[in-house]
Amino acid sequence: MSTTVYTSGETKEEIYKELQPQMIGLMQGEDNMVAKLANFAAVMKEVFNFHWVGFYLVEGDELVLGPFQGPVACTRLQRGKGVCAKAWETKSLQNIPDVDSFPGHVACSALSKSELVIPLLNRNQEVWAVLDIDSDQYNDFNSADEQGLSELLSTLS
Ligand code: SME
Repeated sequence: MSTTVYTSGETKEEIYKELQPQMIGLMQGEDNMVAKLANFAAVMKEVFNFHWVGFYLVEGDELVLGPFQGPVACTRLQRGKGVCAKAWETKSLQNIPDVDSFPGHVACSALSKSELVIPLLNRNQEVWAVLDIDSDQYNDFNSADEQGLSELLSTLS
């Protein structure tokens, strides 16, 4: 199994397409979800150099910090507050071009300007985790990220 990722695409669409088979290879045969989430975050950091990329895991009434790459982050997030909680509670992707305009945004890092959060649902359609990506640029995420990341996340299950 290769432990590096390779991309040569110039557009986000091309890069996500190149990553898909490599992510499948990386996840294949591994049952441990922490290991998979950790490598997922590492790939995203390596390829796109996002400011912060990682997972929060649902634990009762809270989201608890999971595998991530980037600066130290908030350990626990509460319901009803912030972008991650919104994705969890609404079971829907949140693409926030300017986090300062999002009421209740939880600023773990003052450098975060835009944010993309995608909920991960289990077979019973319950959210068990969210992928959170923060950028230090405004308006950094588009439909290519939304679609590319959603497809890459499907390799986790
Ligand atoms: N900004 C997130 C909190 C998590 S951190 O940015 C890593 C939110 O509003 O839910």
